[in-house]
Amino acid sequence: MAGWFHQPIKFREELSEERFEPARADFYSGPPGKPLRLLLQARTDFLSIWRNNDFTEKVSQIRLIGRQVILVNSPDLIRQVVVKRHENFERKSPQMRRALEFLLGDGLFISDGDIWKQRRPLVADIVHAKRVPAFGPVMERTTSELVERWNGMPDGAQVNALHEMAGLTAEIIARSVFGNQLGDDSAAAVTDSFTSYQSLVDSINLGYFLGFDDGLPILRTPTLRRSVKRIHRIIDKVVEDHLEGRGDHNSMVELLIRRQQRNPELKLDLVALRNEAATIFMAGHETTAATLTWAWYLLSRAKWVEKALHEEIGRVCGDRVPTIDDVPQLELCKAIIEETLRLYPPVPILARQTRQAEMIGDITAERGSLVLIVPWLLHRTESLFEDPHHFRPDRFMGGRRPTPYSFIPFASGPRVCPGLHFGLTEAILCLAIIAQQFRVAVVDGHKVEPICRLTLRPKGGLPVTLHRRQRPLYDR
Ligand code: HEM
Repeated sequence: MAGWFHQPIKFREELSEERFEPARADFYSGPPGKPLRLLLQARTDFLSIWRNNDFTEKVSQIRLIGRQVILVNSPDLIRQVVVKRHENFERKSPQMRRALEFLLGDGLFISDGDIWKQRRPLVADIVHAKRVPAFGPVMERTTSELVERWNGMPDGAQVNALHEMAGLTAEIIARSVFGNQLGDDSAAAVTDSFTSYQSLVDSINLGYFLGFDDGLPILRTPTLRRSVKRIHRIIDKVVEDHLEGRGDHNSMVELLIRRQQRNPELKLDLVALRNEAATIFMAGHETTAATLTWAWYLLSRAKWVEKALHEEIGRVCGDRVPTIDDVPQLELCKAIIEETLRLYPPVPILARQTRQAEMIGDITAERGSLVLIVPWLLHRTESLFEDPHHFRPDRFMGGRRPTPYSFIPFASGPRVCPGLHFGLTEAILCLAIIAQQFRVAVVDGHKVEPICRLTLRPKGGLPVTLHRRQRPLYDR
């Protein structure tokens, strides 16, 4: 139906010698003052509703069918919302809560208030930076298995990079969260069901705009129910195995269970354990998979960066497979991942619901209003980033750092992504291990189009061909 109303989305991409402006939706140019049209357009793709002058440092508001929507796009005011006045803005938007509650229940990603306060330290501790080295071997082994599989294919074989990266990061997170006992079939069933769940839920909750402060429950269609049932069944089985002592002792689920045994007041019953396990699984694989996929796209076009990356991997690692200990030395590799997260933040919208009325800049945010921080806009704001739409990893090198609160792919403040170090390390390591062996090239003539559902992905995935750079290491 939205097709009757929305403006067809035009995409632009420009490549010239050593300058690359990767794919993005053109600025919105629909007539002003048509909120319904904007809402329907956002429903099709949230990234295509922004006008050129939205990419500036400011706070602004519109009214959508009676609901106040405030866009905060300046570092100081973002700091107010996510740090200084966190308590007033910690509650996720009704669209996010309604879209995910069927799957995640009261899981950390969408909980707030006391449950969030109680569970946050628990989950944060489990994926904390200091634990990341312990997960290094899982990341290395799983990525090497992928490289080995690709080595079994003919040179130039075509695959879908998004699908491959989702399989890789799902396997890494499954092995880390659940231990090694999930098994290929169950891992694939969980990943497929998550993908189908994402495609089935509507990210705009019309009920909220029509006046329901908590939005309206999403329609639980038989297909959606089937996806959720499949995921819950598999996770419950893993948790029950762990509870009965049949689990992997280093997995995240085991750590949660031990915590519960030490602190029974936490009341982590089977459902709560499942919700937190599903949350870590979902939050922890989609995002990294999208990051890696976008990085392959950017490198495939910007050959000069790809060449420098290969040189760095050769210089730091020689002929041996990169390990987690190499990560601090892989400066360009890290800069490529950070620049990818700037241009294509996997979570391109941070949406909050105001608890109490409060001034944000010169705007009074009403109780229940929707406050949007949009990394997609912020990261492309010219006063904060030179050549904002261009791929330039050098902006993150030689000790250069963006203005505080202008680069927030992991959000910021008390609700910052607890998996930040895990995700960043994983992305750098996977990129280095794969790039050492393969060049990944976007299929000739393929038009890349970013599309925003719950996460930001290339529409239809990313068809690529694989080109071996050197003899498989295990053949020597
Ligand atoms: C490149 C990878 C990743 C990116 C870009 C990313 C980004 C984010 C962002 C932006 C949020 C906040 C969303 C909001 O406030 O609306 C978030 C929350 C979260 N992330 Fe990540 N994430 C990544 C990887 C991971 C990993 C690997 C894990 C777990 C191992 C993880 C677990 C979580 C959890 C549990 C939350 C909810 C935290 C809370 O609400 O207190 N993430 N992530």
